[in-house]
Amino acid sequence: MNILITGGAGFIGANFVYYMQKKHPDYRLVVVDALTYAGNLKTLDGARKSSDFRFVKADIADPAAMDALFAQEKFDIVVNFAAEIHVDRSIEDPGVFLRTNILGTQTLMDAARKHKVRRYHQVSTDEVYGDLPLDRPDLFFTEETPIHTSSPYSASKAGADLLALAYYRTFKLPVTISRCSNNYGPYHFPEKLIPLMISRALNNEKLPVYGKGENVRDWLYVEDHCAAIDLIILNGRVGEVYNIGGHNERSNLDVVKTVLRALGKNDSLITFVTDRPGHDMRYAIDPAKITAELGWKPTTKFDDGIQKTIAWYLDNRAWWESILSGEYQNYYEKMYANR
Ligand code: NAD
Ligand code: DAU
Repeated sequence: MNILITGGAGFIGANFVYYMQKKHPDYRLVVVDALTYAGNLKTLDGARKSSDFRFVKADIADPAAMDALFAQEKFDIVVNFAAEIHVDRSIEDPGVFLRTNILGTQTLMDAARKHKVRRYHQVSTDEVYGDLPLDRPDLFFTEETPIHTSSPYSASKAGADLLALAYYRTFKLPVTISRCSNNYGPYHFPEKLIPLMISRALNNEKLPVYGKGENVRDWLYVEDHCAAIDLIILNGRVGEVYNIGGHNERSNLDVVKTVLRALGKNDSLITFVTDRPGHDMRYAIDPAKITAELGWKPTTKFDDGIQKTIAWYLDNRAWWESILSGEYQNYYEKMYANR
């Protein structure tokens, strides 16, 4: 089995590489990644030791590069993680989100069609469903929930999903789509809520909480997401969407306070800053379909996963400090200077 993993130098893609190397040591894995600000080749150091692993620096929106690679590798399966994914950045500069997330998906699917891959899997997000109100804890996103996006990021991901379903119907491309809730765990880029709060708290810096901190996210430990994708690409039905989430809802303020307690820091580091424009209130996934059809269940509860994650960031300071010392500092100034 020869699998293309796009965006494999990023957070979830890299965790997926390690998951697959352990679960299916006989598979060949090829990572394509453009190494944008979010890609970190160092994250793949462990994976690169295997002779069944290849890294290719390329842009998924480059048709010639994708065609040549597909012709050479004759992939069985493509799993597309590559994307621009940070909502705040999509509000600053939507263009690159449309290019990578929509045109990149089209380019990959054209190559997948031409070179007859057995499965094209699109890694999507629960954000395509928009948000749920805080006062209706009985409501969850199912696969039937209408697409209703809030940010340029989620609109670009929804565009890619619709395109994937169109390629299934029109061209019979064997497509599956997964829509997962917020992930957390090792190698999470320190601009996202949990790693940002851990790294800043460790440096005794202010923790910027948007609005009142009451927005709710449905947190899933990244390995549980990887296990779900493995099941979908091997056993999922083509043309289908699968929601992935583990009923681990927490408000942002709860998450930040949990991080502070675990690090022995004081709540006084918390600073409430101007809210994100169009900020989604609550995400909550109903994973009944993937559980019933594929037997997937999450294995890590939030209270355990967050402790494991904090321990990882304590043990791997060099990984995130090298990121903080780069371009990220300028970005932080730009995003937070006027809040
Ligand atoms: P990430 O930003 O950590 O990684 C994205 C990777 O894609 C980076 O390595 C980057 O260099 C690469 N990339 C970006 N543009 C590229 C291009 N044009 N060509 C090739 N490579 C390119 O993101 P992540 O958190 O690992 O997310 C992976 C996927 O999972 C995304 O599709 C995202 O929408 C989806 N997702 C993420 C979450 C989450 O909580 N992080 C939740 C649900 C779904
Ligand atoms: O739900 C899945 C999505 O989760 C993915 O599709 C996205 O790609 C991924 O980035 C993530 O989106 P969020 O916007 O939920 O993640 P983020 O870490 O940016 O923010 C989580 C919550 O924390 C959100 O309500 C905004 C808030 N927040 C975030 C940052 C960076 C703060 O309060 N302060 C901050 O500094």
